[in-house]
Parts: sequence; structure tokens; C-alpha cells
Amino acid sequence: MKMEFPERQNSSQLFEEAKKYFPGGVNSPVRAFKSVYGPPLFIKKGSGCHIICEDDHQYIDFCASWGPMILGHDDPDVREAIISTVSNGASFGAPTKLGNRLGSLIIKNHRYLEQLRFVSSGTEAVMSAIRLARGYTGKSKIVKFEGCYHGHADSLLVKAGSGLVTFGVSTSAGVPPSFVAETIVLPLDDLEALSACFAKHHDLAAVIIEPIPANNGLLLQNKEYLQALRSMCTDNGVLLIFDEVISGFRVGFEGAAGLYEIEPDILTFGKIIGGGLPVGAFGARREIMQHISPDGNVYQAGTLSANPVAMAAGYATLVKVMTAGFYEQLEAKTHRFVTNLTEHIVKNGFPMQIVQIGSIFWLCFSPLNIRRADQIDPGTIEYFKKLHLYLLRAGIYLGPSGYEVGFISDKHDDMALDEAAAKISKGLDFCFND
Ligand SMILES: Cc1ncc(COP(=O)(O)O)c(C=O)c1O
Repeated sequence: MKMEFPERQNSSQLFEEAKKYFPGGVNSPVRAFKSVYGPPLFIKKGSGCHIICEDDHQYIDFCASWGPMILGHDDPDVREAIISTVSNGASFGAPTKLGNRLGSLIIKNHRYLEQLRFVSSGTEAVMSAIRLARGYTGKSKIVKFEGCYHGHADSLLVKAGSGLVTFGVSTSAGVPPSFVAETIVLPLDDLEALSACFAKHHDLAAVIIEPIPANNGLLLQNKEYLQALRSMCTDNGVLLIFDEVISGFRVGFEGAAGLYEIEPDILTFGKIIGGGLPVGAFGARREIMQHISPDGNVYQAGTLSANPVAMAAGYATLVKVMTAGFYEQLEAKTHRFVTNLTEHIVKNGFPMQIVQIGSIFWLCFSPLNIRRADQIDPGTIEYFKKLHLYLLRAGIYLGPSGYEVGFISDKHDDMALDEAAAKISKGLDFCFND
């Protein structure tokens, strides 16, 4: 495979320039393409299910800005909402009707939410949810799971320590050991580890989980496991936080909580909730949310929180996903796409599978049922690197890491999905046979 990238000449030049301004040339590390071949593509335009790079190549986009673009790029209603709102001013730092409108739409249509607070990113939502859990319970330790990502707040940049040690180690410099000591890291899909943790620790404020873990492959959990987690939290007076930054409004309007019919104590959102603009939110029962300032003593604030333009984009997006049959159609077309790919994989005996839930899919380079992060063989990620380069050259854009999932929008029509399935199939032939 050619390791020169003449087809990325403009992107290459822009990347070199960007390195002068930004560490690693990027404003979020995964964008640097460190886990795949070649320089990152600089994107200049998106329309429907396509994006166009600065070298004027068009790609079918499965990254979807890492999930928010469930209506594809430049949806006419979202665009119109943004333009008409911004023409009245971009930000006031004061309440607006648009915040009420989005808040009420979400709360009225989500059985587990009574109150919300808008913030500007998923990280902020999670960080605030954890402070709320600590303020509400008066306890300080939290439990997270290996293989779940919750943004870059200090106490969450922690992975499992070695051996039997349940206390984690930081995944980033700059996180004080005393912060790390407040976080316990457990494996997913392991009820014994969970019971042992509850038996040992009586100072737990919260357990946080991605109910559909989608940041380290797609590690689908058994519903029974999530139900057991719910019960153990209840029995031990520990709050359960569902981080639905990816799954919220993606696998259904009520996200994973609605899908599995499990009531978490606190929910966090991001991505789709802002229709492509920077919005996050956390919410819960009123009794819990009343602890947030100014009603309560858990401080939380934001200059651009509930920004009117972002509220308008979020509303335009959520109104559309609420239309009858939206999620069913999205899931059906994703299923058809995944089935096409699976037929090719099975016919050729490739040691892999496509994992799917709703409109999320993951190219899993193992035939085994993978539910935990440590079950992924890092060696197989090499296949993904080859495939990624092959597919970029064929006009298919996947997120630049084998641990990332793909997203399908309502603008991915059958023609685009058939084209993508055919190209991915050829790419897999190339990866496994060359
Ligand atoms: C489950 C989950 N939680 C939190 C975050 C952090 O969100 P943000 O990148 O908006 O800060 C992410 C980001 O991908 C996420 O996937």
C-alpha cells in the first residue's frame, strides 16, 4: 500500500500549519490520525451523508462528528433554526424562551427526567453530574468501568490498576493522585467484581456507566447486568449515573434508559442534544436536581450555558427525531447495511463481525462476543489501520481509530449504504488477503 498521500496534499499543508498553532496540530487528540495512516483530512463542507475535504474529495461520512449529526450535515431545518436565531444575537447570558422550549420538549418526552441543566459539552455534563451525586449523598468515591469514556474531567481519566487493585491509575499527567484515589475502576460485565466493590466500600457516591459503552469498541452489556447494577446501587444508597452522551437520542428519544427500561438516578447528555452545536445537559428527578445552585448548595454555572443558537439547533434536531418511525427507519437501514457486510464476512470466513445497536455499528476484528475492554486484542487493530486507508481512498470516512464506532444518519440512503457496504467488503478482502 502506498504510504505517500498526494491525494491529501492540501490537508497535509494545513496540518503542518496547524502544528504551529495547536499541540499536535489539533484541538482534540483523536483528530490527529495517530492511530491510522497519513495526515488528518481537513474538512471544508458537509451535506447530507457526505463530507468534502480541502483536496476536494467527497466521502460517505460514518463519523458524524462523533455522533451528533443524526440528521446528517446541513439539515435544512437545523440550518434555518440556526440562521434565524443568530440573526437576533448570538448570546445574552440570560434566560431565553428557546431554553425553555428545548428543556420542556426533553422533559415531557423522557420518563426518567423531571429537571435538567444545560451545559456546553459532555465533559461538563458528566463533571457536574458527579459533583451533584457527591453533594446529594455526602459521600465522595465514584465507580467507573474500564472501557467507558466520560470526557476529560480529572476523576474520570482513570483506568484500572494492575492485578487485584481496584483503585485506578491516571491515564493523563496532571491528575493529582488524591483525585485518582477517589475513583474505583471495575471491569464491565462482571457482577462478582461489582458485589465485592459494594461489600468493601461504604463511601460510594455514584456509579457511572455508559449503558451502551461505545468508546472502546461497542461493548454491548446484558440487560440483566444493567438491572443488577441498578438494584445494587439502590440497595447501597449509591446513585446510578447513565452517561448517555452517545446513546442519548441515538438509540431512541429516551436513549439506553428507555430502551432497557432502567431508571438511572442521574442522566448526562451531549452530542445530538445540540444538533451539532456545543450543548450538554444533566438531569434527574426534581428531588435530586434541587441540590443544584441556586436552589441548593452544589455549585454549577456557565457563561454560554443554554446558548440560544445552540438551543434552537437542538430543538430543530429533536423535533425531527421525534417524528413517528424515525428511529425504526434508522435502525432498519443500519441493520440492512450490517447484514450486507455480515454476509460477506461469513461467506469469506473472515475472523470478525459487525456489532450493531440502533444506528451505531462497530467493525469488531474478532468473532467472539466482546463485552469487556480487555477482550479486545490490540493486535487486530492493525487490520483496521489498513482498512481505514483503503476506505479513505475509496471515498468512505470512518472515525480514525479501530476502537471508534460508526454512526448512520437519516440522510444515509440505501444507495449510499450499498455503495459503502460494497467498498467496505472490498476493503476487507484487501485486509485479509493481501
Ligand atoms: C459517553 C461520553 N461521555 C462524555 C463524553 C465527553 O463529551 P465531550 O467530548 O462533549 O466533552 C463523550 C465524548 O465522546 C462520551 O462519548
